[in-house]
Amino acid sequence: MEMKNCFEKIFNHAPQMSFFSPGRINLIGEHIDYNGGLVFPCAITIGTYALISKRDDSKVYAYSMNFEELGTIEFDLSNLDYDKHHNWCNYIKGVAKFLHEENNSINTGFNVVINGNIPNGSGLSSSASLELLCIEIFKALNNLEISSVDAAKLGKKVENQYIGVNSGIMDQFAISLGKKDNALLLNCETLDFEYFPLSLPQHKIVIMNTNKRRELADSKYNERRAECESALEKLQTKLEVKNLCEVKLTDLEAHKELLTDIEFIRARHVISENVRVKDASECFSNNDLEQFGKLLNASHKSLCEDYEVTGIELDTLVNSAQQEEGVIGARMTGAGFGGCSLAIVQNESVDRFIENVSKKYLDIIGYEASFHIAEVGDGPKQIEL
Ligand code: GLA
Repeated sequence: MEMKNCFEKIFNHAPQMSFFSPGRINLIGEHIDYNGGLVFPCAITIGTYALISKRDDSKVYAYSMNFEELGTIEFDLSNLDYDKHHNWCNYIKGVAKFLHEENNSINTGFNVVINGNIPNGSGLSSSASLELLCIEIFKALNNLEISSVDAAKLGKKVENQYIGVNSGIMDQFAISLGKKDNALLLNCETLDFEYFPLSLPQHKIVIMNTNKRRELADSKYNERRAECESALEKLQTKLEVKNLCEVKLTDLEAHKELLTDIEFIRARHVISENVRVKDASECFSNNDLEQFGKLLNASHKSLCEDYEVTGIELDTLVNSAQQEEGVIGARMTGAGFGGCSLAIVQNESVDRFIENVSKKYLDIIGYEASFHIAEVGDGPKQIEL
C-alpha cells in the first residue's frame, strides 16, 4: 500500500509533514571507527521515510510498514524508559530521552508511519537511518536547533546506551552529514571531516547483498572490539599512542611478542586499513580510480584473512566480482558476517556483471544475492508531502 494511504487508513486524517533519512555505504575504512582512524563512507538514496501529524497530547502512535505484524505501537513522551514490548519504537524513545536529558522541550506528541527501503539486516545502517530520522522529526516538531555533528553523536548515544549496540560513530556521521554525490573522509578520533566529490561518470557503485542473516554479528563485533582494545593496551606499555590507528606497521612488527597471534592479525588489519584509507583519498584527489580499486581489493583481503569478518557468502560475492571484466575493485562494506559488499563497475559492464555474479553466487551458496545501483545522496531532511 502507498504510504499516504496507509497513514490515512490508520489515523483517519491526512499527514502534515514528511521526512527522509538515508542509509550508508562505506567505500573503505572498515572496523576503523572504534579504533580512532579514518573512514570514507557516503549516504545513499535508499533509506527510511516518515509521515507525521501533530497531536494535542504527549502521546506517540507509531506504525511501521516494515513491521506490519506489530500494528500501531503507543507510548507517552512522559515515560521514556526502554521497554522491549515497544520494539522498534525504542529508537524513537531513545532519541526523545536523550534530547529531554539535554534540556530540550519535546512535549509535542505525534502520529507517525514509517517505511524503509533499506533491506533488513543488510548492513546498510537501517538503525542509524531511523535514529537520524527521529532526530529530524523532533527538531521539526519542537523547533530545536541541533547541528548535524551533534545529531550524529546523539544517534550514536542512542545506539550504544539505549539500544545496547556497541558501534562506532561512522554510520550516524555518514548519514547525518550526507551530501549528494560526495563521500566523507572522517577522522573518527577528532571528528574532523572533509567532503570528496564522487564523480564517477563512467562507473556505477553496485551494492551486492548476500541476503544472509547476520545472526552472530553483534557478539562477533564485540569480540573484535575487545581484541583490539587488548592489543592496544599491550602496545601502550611500549608505545605512546592514543589508539590503534596511531601505531605504525613497523612498530607493530617490532612489538609482535607483546601480542597473541589473534591480537597481532587484528591490529595488522586495523593499521593497514587506516593507511589504505589515506591512500584511497589521495587516489580520489588524483583521479586514480585504478589504484583506488586495488585498495578496495586489498581491504577485503585483510578483512577476510586478518580480521576474519567476511565468511563464504561475502567472499563468494567479492571474489566473483573481482574476476569480472570492467570491475575496478570490490569489497565487503559495513560490519561483515553477511550483509553487503560493493563493486565499482564500468557502466557498459554492469548488466553482464550482475548476471554472472548472480549465477555464481546461486551455484555456490544455494540462494540468491540481490543487486542495487547505489546513488550517493543527502542527509536527513524534511521533504515535500
Ligand atoms: C558497523 C558499525 C560501525 C562500524 C562498522 C565497521 O556498521 O555500526 O560503527 O564499526 O560496522 O566498519
